Amino acid sequence: MTSPDYELLKSQLTALVGDEMDALANAANFVALAYNAMNDVNWLGIYVLRGDELVLGPFQGQAACVRIPLGKGVCGTAAATLTTQRIADVHAFPGHIACDAASRSELVVPLLIDGELVGVFDIDSPSLDRFSAEDQTGIEALCATFCEPLCDVRAKRKSFI
Ligand code: SME
Repeated sequence: MTSPDYELLKSQLTALVGDEMDALANAANFVALAYNAMNDVNWLGIYVLRGDELVLGPFQGQAACVRIPLGKGVCGTAAATLTTQRIADVHAFPGHIACDAASRSELVVPLLIDGELVGVFDIDSPSLDRFSAEDQTGIEALCATFCEPLCDVRAKRKSFI
């Protein structure tokens, strides 16, 4: 599987965000950019931390489950451990939440602003073992690029989206 040019995507994301500080608008554009750049992906989107749950945010793909408790599923595990989850076979992941029955592998990156969890970035593929270490590094860098300018927004508004 050929990876997208993550350096190019990073500069495209930086240009798309510009000096815009609306996290919702930036999240919607981030999701659209990444979804259209990746092959063999059936769902890509953001879950936003609200209290002790993840709540569905901007995404591309089939309609998905709305609420995921921290610690549950691949997304809740990434959020609870603040660790990227790169899962080659979701059927082998205990507690995997099957929003789209077609999904076979998954990459979930925690979104951190000023070191605090604000949500997760989730990508599903219908292929087994779709996501490489290069994809993980590239997507983590994109998530950092997305979050970094939002530090001031979070400090002022006390919320992400
Ligand atoms: N599979 C995820 C749920 C979200 S969907 O993939 C859109 C999980 O196990 O947390």
